[in-house]
Amino acid sequence: SQKITNQLQPHAFQKITNQLQPHASTFKVAILGAAGGIGQPLALLIKMSPLVSALHLYDIANVKGVAADLSHCNTPSQVLDFTGPQELANCLKGVDVVVIPAGVPRKPGMTRDDLFNINANIVKTLVQAVADNCPDAFIHIISNPVNSTVPIAAEVLKQKGVYNPKKLFGVTTLDVVRANTFVAQKKNLKLIDVDVPVVGGHAGITILPLLSKTRPSTTFNDKEVEELTVRIQNAGTEVVEAKAGAGSATLSMAYAAARFVESSLRALDGDGDVYECTFIQSDLTELPFFASRVKLGKEGVEAVLSVDFQGLTEYEEKALEALKPELKASIEKGVAFVQKHP
Ligand code: NAD
Ligand code: LMR
Repeated sequence: SQKITNQLQPHAFQKITNQLQPHASTFKVAILGAAGGIGQPLALLIKMSPLVSALHLYDIANVKGVAADLSHCNTPSQVLDFTGPQELANCLKGVDVVVIPAGVPRKPGMTRDDLFNINANIVKTLVQAVADNCPDAFIHIISNPVNSTVPIAAEVLKQKGVYNPKKLFGVTTLDVVRANTFVAQKKNLKLIDVDVPVVGGHAGITILPLLSKTRPSTTFNDKEVEELTVRIQNAGTEVVEAKAGAGSATLSMAYAAARFVESSLRALDGDGDVYECTFIQSDLTELPFFASRVKLGKEGVEAVLSVDFQGLTEYEEKALEALKPELKASIEKGVAFVQKHP
């Protein structure tokens, strides 16, 4: 009887009178990289949440204007801006959830791994500050390559002696959002009902939609499975190519990241019925990190739902084995980076 949380929304939009309703318990959220393509629409969506009392926006430039603009919305949260490393500590103090979309996006012809050299350093530096200032916060990593930046974050937190694997998340919600959309379109299903778990990692073949576990129960022929799987795996590239050099997914990513923030806040608020797919430290396979559906609670990951892995199809079993070497290499690259550049 899991509640389907497959659309961002719920209570934020239910009782709109002349402004969104404040909620009894509220939380502080920080966005690092808040002036960027993802950061700005994500800040807007989070500003609409009744579970947020303070929204801290950090970037190396251009964040003052974003914050001034957003602060005029008549929703309960207070918006504060922080520019540059000297203001980062203040941005992070007392924060419950830190979302990190800082870093460079892909251009056509690039893989996510091509972003490693720049984004690895950015994530390392930002997570060092998180470790120093809000070590107990939920940390949502969006910056690519997620398959490496999450292991980087884990190593940094370990070096600082504050690693809590239950509170470090690679944001893979966009893969689920895409899978839900494409499956609903192909099978003529009502969007709000469709929920497809997506496991593995967040790049190419490491993205594995478990179509056989689609809810409501749906059958697919072999051609549909192949087409849907490949489209979900290449959906990021589809957007990169359509944007033709102007970046990668920002609006759908902001939507997906806002859903993951909303789910985290509901979990922190004591809702006992919150489930999301996310890339975390995991025992589900022999790989140290793996995305799968988890139950979220006040302390972060409460349970990993291994049930999704029972009765996989032959196609899914093969795809699972095929993704492991690439995902393993990306994880090891992230770990090695921090060990080499502590
Ligand atoms: P963008 O270039 O529009 O914005 C990035 C922002 O990060 C900029 O405002 C920039 O000033 C800021 N930034 C750079 N260095 C920083 C630092 N050291 N500290 C703080 N901020 C810093 O890029 P975008 O489109 O918003 O994408 C951001 C990242 O998200 C990329 O790495 C992209 O690949 C990734 N992404 C991930 C997913 C996912 O599903 N996980 C989806 C889409 C994009
Ligand atoms: C996505 O899936 O859209 C992101 O990871 C951005 C990208 O580079 O494809």
